[in-house]
Amino acid sequence: MDQLKTELITDVAQAADLLCDGHLVAFATETVYGLGADATNGTAVAQIYAAKGRPQFNPLIMHVPSLEAARSLATFSPLAEKLAAAFWPGPLTLVLPRSTNCPVSTLACAGLDTIALRCPAHPQARQLLTKANRPIAAPSANPSGAISPTSAAHVLDGLSGKIAAVLEGGPCEVGLESTILSVTDTATLLRPGGLTSESIEALLGHPLKTPQTAEITAPGQLASHYAPNTKLTLNATKPIPGNLWLGFGSMPNTATGLNLSQTSNLTEAAANLFDHLRRLDAIASKNGHSQINAAPVPNTGLGLAINDRLKRAAAPKP
Ligand code: TXA
Ligand code: MG
Repeated sequence: MDQLKTELITDVAQAADLLCDGHLVAFATETVYGLGADATNGTAVAQIYAAKGRPQFNPLIMHVPSLEAARSLATFSPLAEKLAAAFWPGPLTLVLPRSTNCPVSTLACAGLDTIALRCPAHPQARQLLTKANRPIAAPSANPSGAISPTSAAHVLDGLSGKIAAVLEGGPCEVGLESTILSVTDTATLLRPGGLTSESIEALLGHPLKTPQTAEITAPGQLASHYAPNTKLTLNATKPIPGNLWLGFGSMPNTATGLNLSQTSNLTEAAANLFDHLRRLDAIASKNGHSQINAAPVPNTGLGLAINDRLKRAAAPKP
């Protein structure tokens, strides 16, 4: 792949023009930075897989500025309409049957007859999507398997030289990827994320279904994902001398490391998670630490998605 000069830009119109011309542009959403391409342009979509080193069986999420734009791409059941009305724009992705005349490249959906759709809440992302006036395919803007980016600098760290531009959009407020639901006349949780299961279940009035099959329908479901280079262990109840500590709640005074949230606030912890993993990884490689030990995080609300990401970050790499 040719080396590009990746530019950090601030002009939304310029970013939209680059996308419409078939280039890759990373942009901020409220969850994580996405690596955008014109979803209707198969060549542009193919460049996403190449830049990320992403296995081609992993389908992408299409980003749209409105529910109206989404309706032209997929068949919305009454339940899908209800979920979109309640939670869009926001950190929720709906996997729905692709409409028959859907203009999105089949590569973007990895040949499936379903399509993942998301309407982000980030104001700059909404401006960009409105200006581009076409669905934008965007996985998280990181090399496949690595930690997702929550700032423009994180994107440049992983993808500089491989993409045309990064649109500076500040730090991501939520800091965890969207929650993914597969929706027909029922809703199945494919990936926990920035929208809590509790708030979805409150709307549905019953618990969410979880997938019955072991088949991978989302790479976020791969055992090893979101991984730092340094070995990560979980549920460490106290710091281990010589290792780095990823804390939650009050920080033991023997610990060397970073704290997700001093006050045990799960929203703050979610926003810090990927940034802290990156920073600890950098400290480890600079100072020769061989392990990061993570404190336990409660498994409720955003804690479900935080623990999901930590578990995959700690899994043995293939
Ligand atoms: O918050 C997010 O969702 C971010 C921002 C940029 O929007 N995007 C993101 O994309 O996390 P990515 O590619 O890292 O994760 C997309 C997930 C993958 O796990 C993929 O397998 C799943 O969506 N997915 C996409 N299309 C699907 C489909 N038709 N059926 C099942 N899963 C699908
Ligand atoms: Mg990802």
